[in-house]
Amino acid sequence: MKIKLLLASALMAVGLAAHADPIIIKYSHVVADVTPKGQAALKFKELAEKKLPGKVQVQVFPNSQLFGDGKEMEALLLGDVQILAPSLAKFGKYTKKLQIFDLPFLFNDIQAVDRFQASKEGQALLMSMEKKGIVGFGYLHNGMKQLSANKPLGSPEDAKGLKFRIQPSDVLEAQFKAVGGNPQKIAFAEVYQALQTGVVDGAENPWSNIYSKKFHEVQNYIMESNHGVLDYMVIANAKWWNGLPADVKKGLSEAMKESIAVGNKVAMEEDAAFRAKVIADKKARVLPMSQDHLNQWRTAMKPVWKKFEGEIGKDLIDAALKANK
Ligand code: LMR
Repeated sequence: MKIKLLLASALMAVGLAAHADPIIIKYSHVVADVTPKGQAALKFKELAEKKLPGKVQVQVFPNSQLFGDGKEMEALLLGDVQILAPSLAKFGKYTKKLQIFDLPFLFNDIQAVDRFQASKEGQALLMSMEKKGIVGFGYLHNGMKQLSANKPLGSPEDAKGLKFRIQPSDVLEAQFKAVGGNPQKIAFAEVYQALQTGVVDGAENPWSNIYSKKFHEVQNYIMESNHGVLDYMVIANAKWWNGLPADVKKGLSEAMKESIAVGNKVAMEEDAAFRAKVIADKKARVLPMSQDHLNQWRTAMKPVWKKFEGEIGKDLIDAALKANK
């Protein structure tokens, strides 16, 4: 009798488990589906649901549909969204260390950024917000940033008095102030309108964001400055993550790793294609920058490194420089 009862309750438990509601995972971001981050998020959904059939359901919200970048971090900590991939420029409230990625002219190219992120020092930064309740799964590339404005920018003097839209980063603020510009922190969802209506005169964005958000339609010139990087960290609420069943965690970790690899492949392989599309559209003129002009920008902006060295750490800056090889 006892055995029968036990068997019956075991069967019931299995039945209940089979019919348990899937864990809903909201993955929110602010860019378009075609971008590296957009592609990584969709890949994560596909892989997670394939690896954990019936156990998880991933809902992807692109284009600031669910939360814009003013609110998404708070939403993550409140449990209203489970996964985000904010730009590394948007973590200032949680850690000062990640400011390293905003230092102008620190990395020679995206390959150097990649090497630094893969280094011991870069990997350690993924857990730099653990105490704040945030776990980092990995870095996701977008690409190097290009300056844009309504007039051509040659030497840094040309930027004097211009209003530039920036992400909410004190380093980026100092960067534009260093050339006499007037930086304005504006949420990504509002950038197009800010450029269109003249709230700002210029901006800095990687090619995939320029093209997918049509910034080249509301800017006359794009300068190929490659002066800084726009990359992401894919993150979750630590409490939520640590409370997941082991098998779900394992499946999601794998899906995360593979989806980040896909996003990074898109970033590396399609950056040039996005640039080509912007040029082909003929809405804005894409101008190369001479080495001489780039050196002038670098010299003008270099004091920003010193200004933030205390918060970031000299060791970290040296490790990043080593990645330039
Ligand atoms: C920006 O605000 O310019 C970027 O962080 C947007 C993004 O997620 O690429």
